[in-house]
Amino acid sequence: MEKGLFIVFEGLDGSGKSTQIDQLIRYMEAQGHQVWPTAEPTGLPTGKLLRQVLGGGGNTDPAYLAGLFLADRVAHNTDPEQGIGQILEQGVSVISDRYYYSSFAYQGMDTDLEWVMNMNLRSPAIRRPDLCIFLDVDYRTCKERIDGRKGKLEIFEKNAETLARIRDKFFEVFHLLKGQENIRIVSADRPMEEVTREIFGLVNEMIAQ
Ligand code: TYD
Repeated sequence: MEKGLFIVFEGLDGSGKSTQIDQLIRYMEAQGHQVWPTAEPTGLPTGKLLRQVLGGGGNTDPAYLAGLFLADRVAHNTDPEQGIGQILEQGVSVISDRYYYSSFAYQGMDTDLEWVMNMNLRSPAIRRPDLCIFLDVDYRTCKERIDGRKGKLEIFEKNAETLARIRDKFFEVFHLLKGQENIRIVSADRPMEEVTREIFGLVNEMIAQ
């Protein structure tokens, strides 16, 4: 059986990842592919701990966060029932809302970037995605969307300057990974249908390979 594709979506909080992921799932399923949507932080015990930490109030040390996200990512890859490896082997494609690029940008801006990159990229348990799609949306638009949602803000959602710094860090990391990873930046300050069409095109290229 052919292995599934492993696709990751990245972007700032409020960049519209979930909407685009929903569209892509429908599109791929209509073409006869089986798709498994997933996300980080995961719904596994490590991910639940992360949600608590991201809620604020406790230890938000960036190295501690980087370690927790690493553990959650290893669990995400290796879980015997819902692990990415297991799912791909069954011929099902995996679409993840965030992956290690988020650790590089969010934790890399506050602690040692090289350390964060090395421990993720050198881990034998952490798979490299076939494609990473970065939805690039103006940080001010993201902030407006975050503020329009109900509920308490997580630690990285609190101010627009933080979002701008995270975007800069994503671009620094993409530059460092040039030639090693399949990262595609999609400008998403456009009508939703145009963005969706571009994403379908990128995924079709992968399927055709
Ligand atoms: P997410 O639920 O995707 O937030 P949103 O739906 O608002 O985009 O992600 C939760 C938060 O966790 C988000 O602020 C980014 C952060 N994060 C990291 O700091 N490092 C990581 O490795 C990951 C995967 C997420």
